[in-house]
Amino acid sequence: EIYVNGLLTGALPPHSVDPAVLEEVARRRLGEGPYWYVAGSAGTGATERANREAFGRRRIVPRMLVDATERDLGVELFGERLPAPVLLAPVGVQSIVHPEGELATARAAASLGVPSILSTMASHTIEEVAAAAGEGPRWFQLYWPHDDEVTVSLLSRARKAGFTALVVTLDTWTLGWRPHDLDLAYLPFLRGEGLAIPFSDPAFLAGLEKSPQEDLGAAVLRWAPMFNGRAHTWDRLALLRDNWDGPIVLKGIQSADDARRAADHGMDGVVVSNHGGRQVDGAIASLDALEPVAEAVGDRLTVLFDSGVRTGADVLKALALGARAVLLGRPYLWGLACGGADGVRHVLRCLLAELDISMGLAGHRAVAGLAPDCLEVR
Ligand code: FNR
Repeated sequence: EIYVNGLLTGALPPHSVDPAVLEEVARRRLGEGPYWYVAGSAGTGATERANREAFGRRRIVPRMLVDATERDLGVELFGERLPAPVLLAPVGVQSIVHPEGELATARAAASLGVPSILSTMASHTIEEVAAAAGEGPRWFQLYWPHDDEVTVSLLSRARKAGFTALVVTLDTWTLGWRPHDLDLAYLPFLRGEGLAIPFSDPAFLAGLEKSPQEDLGAAVLRWAPMFNGRAHTWDRLALLRDNWDGPIVLKGIQSADDARRAADHGMDGVVVSNHGGRQVDGAIASLDALEPVAEAVGDRLTVLFDSGVRTGADVLKALALGARAVLLGRPYLWGLACGGADGVRHVLRCLLAELDISMGLAGHRAVAGLAPDCLEVR
C-alpha cells in the first residue's frame, strides 16, 4: 500500500514508519515532562537497555523455498480468536500524551481487532473507554488496592463494561526509582491531570467527605497508600478468583518459579515483563526471562510477553521463544502523541505489516510453527 501509493500518487505515509523517527517527532511535540513520563525508566536505564540487547543477541535464521505466500498471523487467547499475536500494553494517564488518551487508543485498537488493555490508572473511566472500544476486544489491568471494597468495585465495573480478561500487575506495588519522573514528569500530576479516574470509583468516594476536586490533598492522601507502598502475597489471589469469572493473567513475572506458583494458584496466564525497565534497575532482560518461563509452564498457562518490543522482527523472536502473544508499550504512545487514534493505528499497522513480511521471508506460514530453533543466539 505504501509503495504503491507513493508510486501512483506521490503520497508518503501519514507518520514515519521508523519507530526512532516517530519517537523524535513525539518528543518535539510533547516537551520534556510528558516525553520523559513515557520514555523514562528506572535508575540508570540498565534494564531498559538490557531488554533491547536481549533482542539484539538473537537473530532470525530465514529458510528458503518454503511456500509462505499465504500467512496466518492469527492466535487464540482464552477462547478469543485474534487477528494477530499483539495487544496494547496497559499504560496509565494517557491524557499526559494526548487529550483523548485511552479513548483514542481503544478506538485505534478496536479498528484492527487488537485487544487494548485498560490501566487502572487511566485518565478516562472504565465505562467511557468501553464505549470507545465498541465491539473491540478489551482486557482490564488491575493495580490491586488493599481496600477489598475498592478492588471488588473496580472488578465488577470492568466486567459489566465488557472487559474479558483481567491482568493483575504485580511488579509495581510501589513505584520504582525513576530519576526522570522525579526530576520532571510529576508536573502534570501536580496540575491534577489524569488523577480523576481512580478517584471516580464509588467505593473510593464513599470514604471522602468532600469531592476529590474540592479536596485534592485529602483524596491523594487516601488514594496513594491504597495502591502504593505495600505488596500483596500469593494467598490473596483467592479474592480475585472469587470476584472475576474470566481469565486472570499475572503481569510482571520474571522467574520460572513464580510462573509455576501462578499455575499452582489456578491462574490462567502470565505476562513475562519487567515493566519496560521501569521498576528494578539491573533486573534480568525480559526476553532472557521468557524461555525458562515458557519451558516451565507453557503447557499449563498462556504465556505473554512485553518489554522492549519495537519491531515486527521482535514479535517474531518473542513468539519463537515461547510467547503466545506480545504486548506493545511505548511505541504506540509515540503514535498517540503524533496523531491520536490515527497515530496509534499507524504504529500498529506498521508493526503488523513488518511481522507479516518478516514471517514470510523467514519461511513461516503461521505463528504456531515458530520455535527456538528459528533463531540463532550470539
Ligand atoms: C507503563 N506500564 C504500565 N503497566 C501497567 O500494568 N499499568 C500501568 O498503568 C502502566 N503504565 C505505564 C505507563 C508508561 C508511560 C509506560 C511506558 C509503561 C508498563 C507497560 O504495560 C509495559 O509493561 C511496558 O511499557 C512494556 O515495555 P515497552 O514496550 O514500553 O518497552
